[in-house]
Amino acid sequence: MRIIVAVDNNWGIGKDNNLLTYIPNDLKYFKEKTFGKVVVMGRKTLESLPGQKPLLGRTNIVLSSDKEYTADCTVCHSEEELFKELEQYDSNDVYIIGGAKVYADMLEKCDTYFITKIFNTFDADRHFENLDKRQDVELVWESDMQEHKGLQYKFTEYRRK
Ligand SMILES: NC(=O)c1ccc[n+]([C@@H]2O[C@H](COP(=O)([O-])OP(=O)(O)OC[C@H]3O[C@@H](n4cnc5c(N)ncnc54)[C@H](OP(=O)(O)O)[C@@H]3O)[C@@H](O)[C@H]2O)c1
Repeated sequence: MRIIVAVDNNWGIGKDNNLLTYIPNDLKYFKEKTFGKVVVMGRKTLESLPGQKPLLGRTNIVLSSDKEYTADCTVCHSEEELFKELEQYDSNDVYIIGGAKVYADMLEKCDTYFITKIFNTFDADRHFENLDKRQDVELVWESDMQEHKGLQYKFTEYRRK
């Protein structure tokens, strides 16, 4: 399983159930990586998407503990249910796409982490774990510096050692 996320200098990822900023080229990168694949997200992240709708062209799975919760995609109510559902897919095709709770719960179970690093500090209320502080994960690739409206960012990839 893989994680894909955009973080700021403090590994902040969101505020008020929204992204910290919108970088069109990063959204394009996210789409390219996940298109045709399986995306797993928490209920709050689904509700943060445009129209609160699943992502087109991908198999969407949403987690909610609420048995009454319905969405236009598969809903799993526990990690156990999620892993049962995921058995039918190649684990390299499964992308964890947030939010903070789901990233934190799934971090140990993933082996590849696509981190877009945005070199700015935003006011955030949700964070991702700082992978640079982990001994079991290493940076294996980073892109050249990118820029959007004065905002600098890089695409990076970390792997489990
Ligand atoms: N920067 C990025 O790349 C990025 C990507 C995605 C999201 N985000 C941001 O992250 C923030 C949202 O993160 P969040 O932590 O608040 O919420 P979240 O992880 O999206 O959703 C949490 C919800 O998911 C459900 N859930 C999670 N684990 C579960 C489990 N094991 N079993 C059953 N249900 C489970 C629960 O729903 P119920 O309450 O219904 O039980 C829980 O309240 C937003 O600001 C969003 O914009 C950022």
